Amino acid sequence: MHRVTAMKNIVYIATSLDGYIADRDGGLDWLHSIPNPDHSDFGWAEFMAGVDALVMGRTTFETVCGFDCDWPYNKPVFVLSNTLTEIPENYQDKAELVSGALPEIINTLNKRGFENLYIDGGKTVQSFLTEDLIDDLIITQIPVLLGGGSRLFSDLPAHQAYELVNSEVLLGAMIKNHYRRVR
Ligand SMILES: NC(=O)c1ccc[n+]([C@@H]2O[C@H](COP(=O)([O-])OP(=O)(O)OC[C@H]3O[C@@H](n4cnc5c(N)ncnc54)[C@H](OP(=O)(O)O)[C@@H]3O)[C@@H](O)[C@H]2O)c1
Repeated sequence: MHRVTAMKNIVYIATSLDGYIADRDGGLDWLHSIPNPDHSDFGWAEFMAGVDALVMGRTTFETVCGFDCDWPYNKPVFVLSNTLTEIPENYQDKAELVSGALPEIINTLNKRGFENLYIDGGKTVQSFLTEDLIDDLIITQIPVLLGGGSRLFSDLPAHQAYELVNSEVLLGAMIKNHYRRVR
């Protein structure tokens, strides 16, 4: 159970053992490498119910647009990009472009009533962490070594301490850890 309180920037993501969130080809098949006969969502819907909006990088947005399934989010999506000039027509009712300094973006979204933000995408999470703007990290570790690809973490200017809120073993194979920033 992850009860989310007001004004938080939360990462909810899956990584390989070696810390990648996509393989060298951008592939995500490995996310589904553990048999899941009951089709558990591992708490994703419950987590989504507690957030007000998503902030994701352009690469992640384009990946999700390319999925062969219905749009997976029932909350507004804000797409970080300095190159896109507009959201593709089919997605204009689902997503909005944002750019600029992250504290200002967050501040604007908070003032619009979007207080709990789900932050998604490798470079995006790295940028938020560099500015120490992440409150919660919920990371599910999949037992595979990808050997290369898109990293979740990058170098940071200083240490950041986190406390463990919860830890779950999923299907006897994956570990979902919820960490909270200690400030
Ligand atoms: N394993 C998982 O759970 C999981 C979750 C999410 C994503 N993924 C995968 O991971 C990969 C993520 O790609 P990615 O690491 O390139 O990152 P990303 O964060 O999705 O996208 C990065 C892009 O966001 C834009 N951007 C604008 N302002 C930014 C800022 N302040 N900080 C960071 N980005 C900013 C830039 O786009 P412009 O060039 O347009 O300016 C930048 O190139 C994708 O393949 C995705 O499918 C996996």
